[in-house]
Amino acid sequence: MRLKGKHIVLGITGSIAAYKAAYLLRGLVKEGAEVQVVMTPAAKEFITPVTMSALSGKPVASEFFTANDGTWHSHVDMGQWADLMVIAPATAATIGKMAHAVCDNLLITTYLSMKSPVMVAPAMDLDMFRHPANQKNIEILRSYGNMIVEPREGELASGLIGKGRMEEPDVIIEEIVKFFDRKKKLLNKHFLVTAGPTFERIDPVRFIGNHSSGKMGYAIAESLADSGALVTLVSGPVTVKTNHPNISVVKVMSADEMYRQCVVAFPGTDGAVMCAAVADFTPENTANQKIKRGADDLVIRLKPTPDIAAELGKMKTDKQVLVGFALETQDELENALRKMKKKNLDFIVLNSLNDPGAGFGVDTNKITIIDRNNIQQNFELKSKSEVAADIVDKILEVIAGK
Ligand code: C5P
Repeated sequence: MRLKGKHIVLGITGSIAAYKAAYLLRGLVKEGAEVQVVMTPAAKEFITPVTMSALSGKPVASEFFTANDGTWHSHVDMGQWADLMVIAPATAATIGKMAHAVCDNLLITTYLSMKSPVMVAPAMDLDMFRHPANQKNIEILRSYGNMIVEPREGELASGLIGKGRMEEPDVIIEEIVKFFDRKKKLLNKHFLVTAGPTFERIDPVRFIGNHSSGKMGYAIAESLADSGALVTLVSGPVTVKTNHPNISVVKVMSADEMYRQCVVAFPGTDGAVMCAAVADFTPENTANQKIKRGADDLVIRLKPTPDIAAELGKMKTDKQVLVGFALETQDELENALRKMKKKNLDFIVLNSLNDPGAGFGVDTNKITIIDRNNIQQNFELKSKSEVAADIVDKILEVIAGK
């Protein structure tokens, strides 16, 4: 009973793989989960609500109202009740509607009201699956933090062979169990994360900044928080936001402000992930008034900022984990290794501006993790939330070895 007491909303859409949703539901109930089924109108053409309500022990939700008495089926209530929403099978049409908030059925309104994470298991013909429109929609779902259970290669309902078969119910159940296990892994742990750029003031209106969007740091904070940790997120000026209940955001502007917040927060934590793109130099003097244009060149003298990661590296105890990032444009591995040692990091995450899809502003990243034992792990191009999950897995490995 690995899912005892868990509340799961199971969304079913109109695919031939809908029959597998019955096995999935049976397996979830066997594992102790309480399951509320939501079906799209098309799903009912493939499998009956009677089967699903008998297996779940609950009426199936499908229409906004019950026709004969007008009872309202609240997608908002389902969104608050669930610990997880699983949409299996998910058709190309449903994936498209989820990506673009097209709320023409109860499943989509439930998805938009969902407070919990969402797992999606696509099922469709191979050409539909690989069509750029569908691939783009899947990428959009990933960028919302949804977990995608990749379909398998194999025989499809059309008779064609290729990628598009919904993953088998027992594999989806293992993914669900893993998801809930992960939520407990860092319970009672506390982490510090830095994110975003720093702005170094030149005068009241101008600053020296950089292109960091903060997306990677926020994704790491959310992934740590999803694993049960409390997170202090010291963030430079960014537009990304988080509403995660386990994250407290401390907003700062300059490297010096970030430094001061970090040295205070770090001693109480189990570790820190230094994801911020901290300015290395700051103006020696900030002008009180806006600097006026003159005939001469303007010279601004810069002084070095504190290296926050290196300072925390000096403060670090044997039990604390310290993770840094390296964004390099040349001699990537050597530079990353040197930084890991200099800053006393447990591991360093290397991302290169030379990799398409990696770096500033984008929703994806491609990383290499290098640790103190010189073990290098190269990862594929993934969404920043999936990259964050890989980094959290590495943190768990390092903690286990301490
Ligand atoms: O030395 P470099 O800036 O390339 O090192 C990058 C790593 O050090 C990142 O983890 C970054 O967050 C951290 N760093 C810092 N304080 C600085 C400069 C970098 O914490 N002043």
